[in-house]
Amino acid sequence: MKQTTIYPSATVANMVCGFDVLGFALEEPCDKMTVRLLNEKTVRVVHHDSYGLPTQPEKNVAGVALQAVLNQVKENIGFEVEITKVIKPGSGIGSSAASAAGAVYGANILLGNIFSKTDLVRLAMFGEEVASGAQHADNIAPCIFGGVTLVRSLHPLDVVEVDFPELQVTVIHPQLEIKTSEARKLLKPEVPLGNAVKQWANVGALVAGLMKHDYELITRSLHDYVAEPVRSALIPRFDELKKHSLEAGALGGGISGSGPSVFMLSKNANTAHRVADAMRKVYNETGVDFHVHVTTINRKGVKEK
Ligand code: HSE
Repeated sequence: MKQTTIYPSATVANMVCGFDVLGFALEEPCDKMTVRLLNEKTVRVVHHDSYGLPTQPEKNVAGVALQAVLNQVKENIGFEVEITKVIKPGSGIGSSAASAAGAVYGANILLGNIFSKTDLVRLAMFGEEVASGAQHADNIAPCIFGGVTLVRSLHPLDVVEVDFPELQVTVIHPQLEIKTSEARKLLKPEVPLGNAVKQWANVGALVAGLMKHDYELITRSLHDYVAEPVRSALIPRFDELKKHSLEAGALGGGISGSGPSVFMLSKNANTAHRVADAMRKVYNETGVDFHVHVTTINRKGVKEK
């Protein structure tokens, strides 16, 4: 039976100022997915984890994404996917995007790579929509392309790959669940013009800072006037996490996606570990369980081993 095993990685969406448009892929953690070709037009989903995710294909992120692939092919084929989730659902580091992106990436290998990376992002978005209740590709695009991506437009889909310097990432994951669909409802549909001006200035400057490898410009640009002022209230001790991380030498950071994870960027591994210690110190006083990871940006995208 034709099958492939792939490892889609966690991702950080928004990158502070780029709500719904900027994102980057993390080296770790990654889910494990085995996609198998079937000789009947059907989709089957098997989970080998204890997160209680639905396995009916039409309710499962990977299942919906695989159905979107099947809708594009004429042959009488189908897919079975076995998923071992390592990226905890609701953690804010692109768990649903990894399932959707991994599913379409694996299916594409089995079909002889007939789809481009942009096609795969478009197909995976059908799955992501099941989880977040809205179309956005700021986790899926970096998961598939790797590195840092900017989704300039969804319709038509236009993904821009952004160059970046050496960056280390510290992520704290408080063991709370925030549903993206709920966190999106908190946001006001309109942004005052003054805040919008500051926001797009920062998005432009962040992209320039990344491409010029200008760490000071990156630091000056990591400010959010849209989501963080509302969503940070959902994350215990968010302001302290940020303050102590910056004091420990982080370039900047904020909520990862819709939270509750919080990420910080640093120039080197020593600083990233100091930031991790600072985060632990803040959270040790909260009584909330948490995990802290120090990792880097994954330049490759979905891994094949
Ligand atoms: N851009 C999305 C949001 C990412 O912030 O709602 C969710 O992971």
